[in-house]
Order: sequence, then C-alpha cells, then structure tokens
Amino acid sequence: MTNTMDNGATGATGAAASAGAALAARAERVIPGGVNSSTRRLGAPYGFARSAGAYLWDLEGRRYTDFHAAFGAIVLGHNDEGVDRAVAEEARILDLTGIGVSEREVELAELVVEVMPAVEKMVACTSGSEATFHATRISRAVTGRDIIVKVQGGYHGWHDAVARNCISAPERAYGMDPMSTGVLAENLEKTVIAEYNDLGSLEKLYAEHPGRIAAVFLEPIPHNVGALLPDPGYLEGVRELTRREGSVLLFDEVITGFRHDVGGWQAISGVTPDLTSFGKAMANGYPVAGLGGRADLMDQFNSAAGGVLLAGTFTGHPAMCAGAIETITRLRDTDVIPRAARLGDRMRAGLRAISDELGLQTVVTGYGSVFCMYFLDGEVHGYRDLMRNDDAMYRDFHRGMIDRGFVMLPMSLKRNHISGAHTEADIDAALEAARETLTELAARR
Ligand SMILES: Cc1ncc(COP(=O)(O)O)c(C=O)c1O
Repeated sequence: MTNTMDNGATGATGAAASAGAALAARAERVIPGGVNSSTRRLGAPYGFARSAGAYLWDLEGRRYTDFHAAFGAIVLGHNDEGVDRAVAEEARILDLTGIGVSEREVELAELVVEVMPAVEKMVACTSGSEATFHATRISRAVTGRDIIVKVQGGYHGWHDAVARNCISAPERAYGMDPMSTGVLAENLEKTVIAEYNDLGSLEKLYAEHPGRIAAVFLEPIPHNVGALLPDPGYLEGVRELTRREGSVLLFDEVITGFRHDVGGWQAISGVTPDLTSFGKAMANGYPVAGLGGRADLMDQFNSAAGGVLLAGTFTGHPAMCAGAIETITRLRDTDVIPRAARLGDRMRAGLRAISDELGLQTVVTGYGSVFCMYFLDGEVHGYRDLMRNDDAMYRDFHRGMIDRGFVMLPMSLKRNHISGAHTEADIDAALEAARETLTELAARR
C-alpha cells in the first residue's frame, strides 16, 4: 500500500531531453517540485500542450486518450464548445465587482436547488476544500461540538480538519496518519476515523465520544480510493445514526455530484444529507465549487443570520457560474450521463473478460462513468479490503496504459473517468491496450 505522495515520480532531472522534460526542468527552478498540486508530479508525460474532447496532446505532440479527466472535473469532454462559449460571453459582459450579487450567481443557485434533492440554499466557492472547510465550521457552530468523523480512505480536501487518513500505509491506517506536516496535533485529534460500510465502527465512535461529534463527512462512494460501493442499508444507517445523535451529515459529492446523476448520489440513493459539498464536474473544469443544504444550516453564515464567516474575493465569479450553469443544464437535459455510463459498462465488462482470460486476481468495479481495477482477491467493501491490493500491479497497469497512449493516473487506487466526448471506439482501443499491458504484467508474475 503506497502513501499518497509515493507515486513513483522521478522528476525531470536526468530524463531524456524532450520538450516536456525541458519544461519540467524549467518549472522545478521556480515552482516547488515543478507542479502546482503534489499529485501531478508523476514523471512523463510532464504536461500537455493541447486538449480537445477525449484527447490530450503532450509537449512532443503525442496524442493520448484521457481517462484521468483532471481528477473527474472534465465531464462533457475537454474544451467543450458550449461551456467555453458561456464562460467567454459572460466574461465579456461582467467580471468581478465585489458588491452585491450577479444574475448568474442566482441562476446557478436556483439550478442546483432544483436538481439536488438535499439543497435548499447554496454558496458558490472556488474549490471543494473550501466547501468542506465551511461545512466544518457550520457543523461545529450549530452543534457546539468539536469532533468530525471521516472514513479511512475518504478525502475531503487539504485543510487541517480533514487532511488525514486517505491512502494510508497499512501500519498507519485507522491510526494517526496526517497527510501534511505543519498541522497541530490538537487539530488532527479532533477528526476521528470510521470504516466505510461498517456502521458498527461509527456506533463505536459515538460511544467513545459522547455528545462531541459535530458531523460525519462521507463521500457516498469513496472514489478517492477507486470506487467503494455502499452496501444495501449502509447510507440509510449512517443517516439514521447521525439524526439520532444530533450530528450533521455531510455528503461530500465533489466527485459523485453531477457526474453519476445531475442530482448527485443523494438522488440515486434517496438518502438526504444535511449538507452537500460539490465541485469538480460542476463546470467541466472551470474553478467553481459549492456547499449547499438545509436552509437553517446554510443560514448559519454571517451573510444571513448566523456567525459563520462567509468570505472570498473570487467566490461566485459570474463567468465561472455561467460555465457551471451550461454544464449542469446539459447534464440535466441530454443523455451525456447515461451514455457515459454505458461506455463505463463496456469498459468494466471488457476489463473483467481480459482479467479472466489471463487468470488475474482482480476486482473490476466503479459506477457509471467511473471505473477501476483493483489487483486483489475476494470482495471489496471498505479500506481494510483495499490493503490487500497489489499496489505495484495497479501502478504498473496505469503506467503501461500511459505508455500506450491512454492517460490513467499511475498511482495506486486512483480511479478513471469517461466523459461525454469518449466513443465506443475509444473504449475498444483502450481495452486492446489493456490486454497488451495486462498480458505483459501477468507474464512478469
Ligand atoms: C471528495 C472530495 N472532496 C473534496 C475535494 C477537494 O476539492 P478541491 O481539490 O477542489 O479542493 C476533493 C478533491 O479531490 C474530493 O475528491
């Protein structure tokens, strides 16, 4: 099991001379580690010069089919004409004013309230981390309690209240596994860890910390470790327990929201959280995110009647809101989501068939447009099962796919995404490459 930062990156130094390596070397002189987010440091390809539809072109002009999709932010396809036009047109009309509210902000909030069952009011922000940061404060403010629960393997952003125990090494899983140095121990200790699909582990935390749990933060499908799917009754059980104990339930739908259903996993499962964070696919890659939920909770912000600070220079940028409105409207009114899900089924079925032919021990899973292949035997319900995953195989499979022109993040447990721009031919070509890669990996064993 790898830690989050152990991604096999070698840096550009010493790499064969190429336009990409040269850019990476230049970047390293002025950007720490040469990248603006640590998980982007993966070795070749060092970056891309062009994107369109389902494809990316590296700095040498080589074309790749993209299944990384910027961690899932790209849902309609790269450089979607409609979204780009909506952003550009709004940018020509109105930029930031820092006063009052704009029509696009209101229109976006009305749309999200319409499509997401648990959202009565929302605020727009610029990243998913900002959304879960606000959720932390609201939960503590409204309950007067201090502790946040998350599951091992869940990721909710980079801030102090949540940056622990995502992809943990087995010896650190469930224990103290901060994702960053520089976080005060007293902050880390205010976040405690449950197991996904294990209501007993949550009951136990309530017994250990009576009257102190402000909120349970949950990705309804923990996609940050691939795709753990909820067992029947699990999400309903979490809902019941949090309601009984008076804690806030946050569904972190930063990945599932708008991608699996325009109304998020809450629309699919029928389970209604108190708060919902969303971002990524919301504007097909433009930087806008949001927090929404029950009106009485959202009114805890000091923009309304409460005391929770709501601030941000760039929040609700009209052009970003226009991009989100176009994206969400298209996801609501067209067959992009079910079509991508059919391609997801085709990919999963194909990978299973190849794995069976080669006699590999794998679990091919995912939902809709998201797919992943774990290299392990037996069933997968929670993070404990993922500790049996063969990380080297996982990483080498993804690396082998990149070498063959298909971008899949070469880090263990990272998921893959299909967008509205992929075709059956793209899936079939990827399956051919997967067959080659897996045949090579099987021979190595
Ligand atoms: C479920 C989930 N929540 C929150 C975040 C943080 O979002 P951002 O990277 O936009 O800050 C992420 C990012 O990967 C995520 O996957």
